[in-house]
Parts: sequence; C-alpha cells; structure tokens
Amino acid sequence: MDALDPFHGFQRTHYCTEISEADVGKEVQLVGWVHRRRDHGGVIFVDLRDRGGTVQAVFNPQHSPESHRKADTLRNEFVIGVKGVVLKRPEGMTNPKLKTGTVEVMADELAIFNRSKVLPFNLDEDLEVDEVLRLRYRYLDLRRPSMVANFLMRHKVSKITRDYFDVHGFYEIETPFLTRSTPEGARDYLVPSRVSAGSFYALPQSPQLLKQILMVAGLDRYFQIVRCFRDEDLRADRQPEFTQVDLEMSFVERDQLIEIVEAWIAQLFEQLLGKTLERPFASMSYAEAVEAYGVDNPDTRYGLKMKDLTDTVRESAFQVFRQVIEGGGVVKALRFPGGARLSRRELDNLDGMAKDWGAGGLIWAKCTAEGLQSPISKFLSEDIVGATIERMAAQEGDLLLMMAGAADEVNPWMGRLRAELAEAYDLIDPSEHAFTWILDFPLFERDKEGHITSMHHPFTAPQEEDLPLLDGNPEACRSLAYDLVLNGTEIGGGSIRIHQVDTQKKILSILGISEAEAEEKFGFLLDALSYGAPPHGGIAFGLDRLVMILAGAKSLREVIAFPKTQKASCLLTQSPGPVDAEQLRELHVRTVLPKKPASD
Ligand code: AMO
Repeated sequence: MDALDPFHGFQRTHYCTEISEADVGKEVQLVGWVHRRRDHGGVIFVDLRDRGGTVQAVFNPQHSPESHRKADTLRNEFVIGVKGVVLKRPEGMTNPKLKTGTVEVMADELAIFNRSKVLPFNLDEDLEVDEVLRLRYRYLDLRRPSMVANFLMRHKVSKITRDYFDVHGFYEIETPFLTRSTPEGARDYLVPSRVSAGSFYALPQSPQLLKQILMVAGLDRYFQIVRCFRDEDLRADRQPEFTQVDLEMSFVERDQLIEIVEAWIAQLFEQLLGKTLERPFASMSYAEAVEAYGVDNPDTRYGLKMKDLTDTVRESAFQVFRQVIEGGGVVKALRFPGGARLSRRELDNLDGMAKDWGAGGLIWAKCTAEGLQSPISKFLSEDIVGATIERMAAQEGDLLLMMAGAADEVNPWMGRLRAELAEAYDLIDPSEHAFTWILDFPLFERDKEGHITSMHHPFTAPQEEDLPLLDGNPEACRSLAYDLVLNGTEIGGGSIRIHQVDTQKKILSILGISEAEAEEKFGFLLDALSYGAPPHGGIAFGLDRLVMILAGAKSLREVIAFPKTQKASCLLTQSPGPVDAEQLRELHVRTVLPKKPASD
C-alpha cells in the first residue's frame, strides 16, 4: 500500500501560507516540513512549512489522541501531512509577523512521510550561518522561505523579461555553449574535443559574435536569457558562470536602444517592487564619472563627489603636493558634510586603509570657524585655505579628505574611499534605486603592461566624429558604448557595433592583432560583415546582479541556486573534481600538476 501511496491518501488542498481567516471552519490537508515543534503543557504546536512559509498546526490530546501521540515523535524537518480544520487563533495568541498569524489548523490526522537527521544548522531566518555549511547543504539552505522568495523573484524577472521582449518583436534564439573563444577579456573555460585531438571548444564568455551574426542573418531583433562563463577573479558580484539577458537589434541608434531597455527595467520595478522609476534615467559621460566619483560605476545614492584641487594647491608649501603636481599628478578631494566630528582614531583608520590600498596617505582637514584644521595647515597659506574652502563649497563642521598621486591611481582610491565612508557612516538609503547610464567611454585603454586594448570589446563602434582620431590619436577616440549602473553596480553594458568590415579590420590592427590572427580568431565575423551587414547594436544585462538588487541581497550567491565559492568550486557536488585516467586518455589530455612547495 505504502509503495503505491507514499502520501497515505493525503491530497494537498492548500499551500501553508494560503490559509487565511476566509478558510475558518474548512477542513484542509497540508503537507510540508516540521519547521519547529513546541510542547505547551500537553498541547503540541507545529510550525508546518512549505516553500511559501509556515502555518501553525495544533495537536490536542483531547481532540485527537492518536495524532497527538504521533506529533510527540516529530523532530525538525520531518516531512508530514496534516488533516484538520482551520480555526481562528484565540485572542492574544496571534502573531502579526506571520502571514498566517491569525489562524491555525486543529489536527485530526497526522501522517509522517519521512524523518530527518539532526540538521547541521538551524533554518531560522534570523540566525547567521557559516556560508560553507550553507553551500555544502544547499538543499537545506534553500528550504528557508527567504531563499525561496529570491528564486520566485528570479523566476518572475525571467518571465516578465521574456514577455516584454516578445511584445517588442525580439526572438529568443539559443546560441551554442561549445564554441570558440569570445573576446570579453576574461580567461576561457576550455572543453577538450575527443574527436579532434588537441582541439578545444571554449565556453562562451558571452554570445557577442553570434548575436552579431544573427543580425547579419537578418533576424533583426534577438534576445536570450543565457549562461556565460568566465574564468576570472571572483567577488560578491561575480560568478564564474552567470546569466545574461542578452539582446541585439538591427537599424537602431543608441538612444532608441536605451529607451527600449529602460522601459523593460521600469516594468520589472513596477511589477516586482511596485515602484515607478523616473525616466529617462540619469546619465553622465565616462570622463564625468571618473572625475567626480573616481570610478565608472558610481553609486549615486549619496554625494561625496570629488573635486580636482590640483590648481588650488599648486603653490602650497606642502612638499608632497608640490612633488606630485610637478610629476604630472593630481590632488583630489572630497567633502564629507558633518565629518569634522570624526575622532583622531577614525581619521587614522581611514589613512591606514588608504595606505593599505597603496596610496601614499590620506590628508584630512576639518572646517572650523577659524578655517581649516589639518596636519598640513602650516603649509597652506591663507589664500590657499580660502580657495580650497571655496572650491569645495565647504561649511563649518565638514571634513575634507585629500589624496595626491597619479590620476589613474588617485581616482579609484578616492572612489573606494567614497564607498567605504558611505557604508561606515550610513549615508545610503537602502530603499533607493539610483540608475545612471555611463556614456562616451574611450574606445581604447592601456592594460597593466601598457598595451592598447578595447575598453569594452573590439566590435564596439567608434563615435562618428572621432573617426579621424583613429589614425593619429586612437586613445582620444570615444566609443558608442553604454553601461547601466544601479546603486554602484554595473548591471548592463553594450554598444552600437562596427558593421563595416574595413573599420573592423582597422580596429583590430590598432589592437595589434595581425591580419593572420584576425583571420584565425574572427575570420567568420569579418566574412559575415562583408555580406551586407546591417547597422546594429545591443546590450547584455547581468540577470543575477539585477535579481540580487531587486531582492535586496548582498551577494550573487543568494540568488543563484547552486553558486560557486570564491575558488570557483561547488561545495555541494564537490566540483571541479578529478576524472578517470581513461577519460583523459580518450580526450588526448595529460595533466601536469604544479609542484607542491617543499614542506619544511
Ligand atoms: P559585459 O562583459 O559588460 O558585456 O557583460 C554584461 C553584463 O554581465 C554582467 N556580468 C557578470 N555578472 C556576474 N558575474 C560575472 N562574472 C559577470 N561578468 C559580467 C554585468 C555586465 O554588465 N557581450 C557584451 C555585451 C554587449 O556588448 O552587448 C558583454 O558581455 O552585469
């Protein structure tokens, strides 16, 4: 009987959290897990939980001695079925924190479907649990309603997205995972080929080239919710495999494309958070972002904008400033309103933090009624103090924080300082969603070795008016790329593409890619561009990042069912793991392990 009927005749009538006062008097059948069991002097209360949340079941020995006896054997996470009648909870026994807090189910019958070992951690929402344990026992971690809510959010984001792009004439088209290297700048994950000895597929870092090919193919509007793979250093907002909402359109201009995706984002916020976003979103150029915020992904929920003080302090007697400025460096400062209250120790901590990043130091100045109070006051003439106060629009009680050095170092340090201050001194309103488009990126940048590389990827179109710069001064050339930043996180990035083969070849040659290499790596794209490629452009959004922010989560690991750790491993399945020698032989692969450092 049991083999055919593992549910002991139970037919679920409701999910736990569907029970409400409207059901009072009804007989219901519920199934789920024992979230918590409490024995109150003979009467046993069980919080019965399913994916939505809990409802209270009551086992009263007077009402049903048999089910009360069984309820006595229940432990956390046993899987049970409860048949009973919905009652209004007695006065004073309600729980306003619970959706089902005004009702309970008086149990007539209890079935135990399965037992559970004692859990390695408690599933109570408000307890901090070690993340290693959470990931190792992910099936337990995911039982918590707050986690389930994140995946419901994620499901809805995908559904609204598919519907939106469908209505706007986009076709969802899949592109292969077993493909060639794609140029997003990270390391590839490689898959050895069994049939072509010594050859490898690369898992796509994005569908970039294939979506462009779909435009050449005349498909006009493409989108895909697609997994991408990048072997790069991981952080809270970076996973080695992540999901993009990827799209591409033909015959489109930057501002049209921006409008289409803004309306999609607005729909997500309206439907999922009931929040109407102000549109068009704010925008600023890359140059403005770096100048005022130090980074190209500014969090605009708070101020602390920087100003360049180089000219103001150029003539100061402070040697550090003089040397830096003479060496072509800059002095940048930010104003922290009310920050003069910071203690000496807090200021020393900030200075220590900046030094840890590699900065020479952080110079502070408090604005007082008498002017600036700072360790460098004696080096600043009255004129310079006055000009500094004016330039920074500083008020009594404010704190100025300054750094000196090469612009490409000082800007990111100051950007980081901004973020640290906002976090430490609670300057962020967590309910706010601040969107900013970053526009007019440079087409190229220099990497650490000084080589010229694409700031986005090599298929990004230069701005028409900057085309002449490609020949003499390519680094001054601006691109038609755009990133969307939300609360300091880059949630999307894209560009209008190069659709003319000659321009594409020129860009590849500026990047130092020889004709032969271009042919070898991107020959299929260059070929396709020579067969009537339409003007086109697109963008890709990090779906995980978007869901993380919508769900109010702090890490991508909260919105990815089976995420990887910082070391790109899955603690649940223990991947990556070793494989049989026979599998390697078939794949024509031999491994050479790094030598273990000699132990002493
Ligand atoms: P890009 O490399 O900027 O552009 O990626 C687009 C968006 O994907 C998200 N993202 C990530 N999310 C989680 N983990 C990661 N490791 C990760 N890397 C990127 C970010 C980012 O904005 N082909 C181009 C798009 C285009 O030009 O159309 C591309 O992939 O939110």
